[in-house]
Amino acid sequence: MSEFAELSLGDKKFQFPVITGSEDEKAIDIAKLRDDTGHITIDSGYKNTGATKSAITFLDGELGILRYRGYSIEELAEKSSFLEVAYLLIYGELPTSEQYAAFQNEIKMHTIVNEDMRKIFEGFPVNAHPMGVLSAMVCAMSAFYAGEKAGSDELNIIRLMAKMPSMATWSYKKSQGHPVNYPNNSLDYCSNFLNMMFALPVESYKVNPVISAALNKLLILHADHEQNCSTSTVRLVGSSQASLYASISAGINALSGPLHGGANQEVIEMLEEIKADDGDTSKYIAMAKDKTSGFRLMGFGHRVYKNFDPRARIIKKAADDVLAALGINDPILKIAAELETAALNDEYFVARKLYPNVDFYSGIIYRALGIPTDMFTVMFAIGRLPGWIAQWKEMKANKEPIGRPRQVYIGATERGYVSMTERA
Ligand code: MLT
Repeated sequence: MSEFAELSLGDKKFQFPVITGSEDEKAIDIAKLRDDTGHITIDSGYKNTGATKSAITFLDGELGILRYRGYSIEELAEKSSFLEVAYLLIYGELPTSEQYAAFQNEIKMHTIVNEDMRKIFEGFPVNAHPMGVLSAMVCAMSAFYAGEKAGSDELNIIRLMAKMPSMATWSYKKSQGHPVNYPNNSLDYCSNFLNMMFALPVESYKVNPVISAALNKLLILHADHEQNCSTSTVRLVGSSQASLYASISAGINALSGPLHGGANQEVIEMLEEIKADDGDTSKYIAMAKDKTSGFRLMGFGHRVYKNFDPRARIIKKAADDVLAALGINDPILKIAAELETAALNDEYFVARKLYPNVDFYSGIIYRALGIPTDMFTVMFAIGRLPGWIAQWKEMKANKEPIGRPRQVYIGATERGYVSMTERA
């Protein structure tokens, strides 16, 4: 039976259809609202506004549920690999062994980055932030792979999945004054990334399976998250029929913000600040409660999760396992645990739903894996790449119109031009 929402404006009544998703989510379809009523809605930050109907990721913020194409992140983090999850997100189903082998081989055929791209990269200063470098290099791909080299969307998807990790490691190698590494196609996706990051020509580098397994889990947990800021950016830019590269580059830029993907770097910097201040967590917990202190507790709370971030629970356990396996006793972990205990027990934080989110623990693991702080958000981008690609593909396949929100104008009403000499 069709459902409708009724809107009363003055003495008029209007009806708008209600749609129901496969998980019983409800939405009022206001496609005809302005034509029928002359009104628009306004919803700063789009907290109550659905931009699309999507079959990729389902999350339930109240129950702390996150599933990719119907599979729970708990199962995928435990049983799958990042590249298999990337296939699932992009193509909609878990691959057969033949499909997975073909996907892996396609990617391996494109891991080498055009040497001319290196000339663009060499122009960056040694202290350039890796997120700015990455977004520029991905955007440059829209210039490199244009015209007769443009290729199909499918080829560009493979090129991006194959080349982004290579380009991501360049910034780190440059910051160390070390030569960049070429991809090693005898390694799996995550091991290849670690090898490009840490191998040095003066010694043989062997990927630690504990680190590679942790990286797989971290990238799986970051792979998609429905219509977050950066994914919405990718879909909006792509809706103008801009290239996949231009759309993903825009998503990388959106992710770089400290309120989004940049939060994992902010968390570690916050923990380091507390450690440098004699590890006085109670001082910083007090500051977090004092609006005049200017101190903000990073890595706590979330726009959509109301009780806990399911990814944080998995990452926290992985952090404990990785640090134990590597024999690392990182003092900031103790500080993080004290902050978490406070956030989970102190009424001030509980009332405001300020519990650890995905960014709170991811930095601790990345640090344990030897990844430098300014590369943390790059790791988020590498993880989120298949999600961005899947969402961009879905937007195109659905032939969604160019995104063009409306506004309510609150500026000056009409007035005549006054020459400069006549102005007060
Ligand atoms: C994400 O995974 O994109 C972040 O948790 C932010 C979000 O979903 O709004």
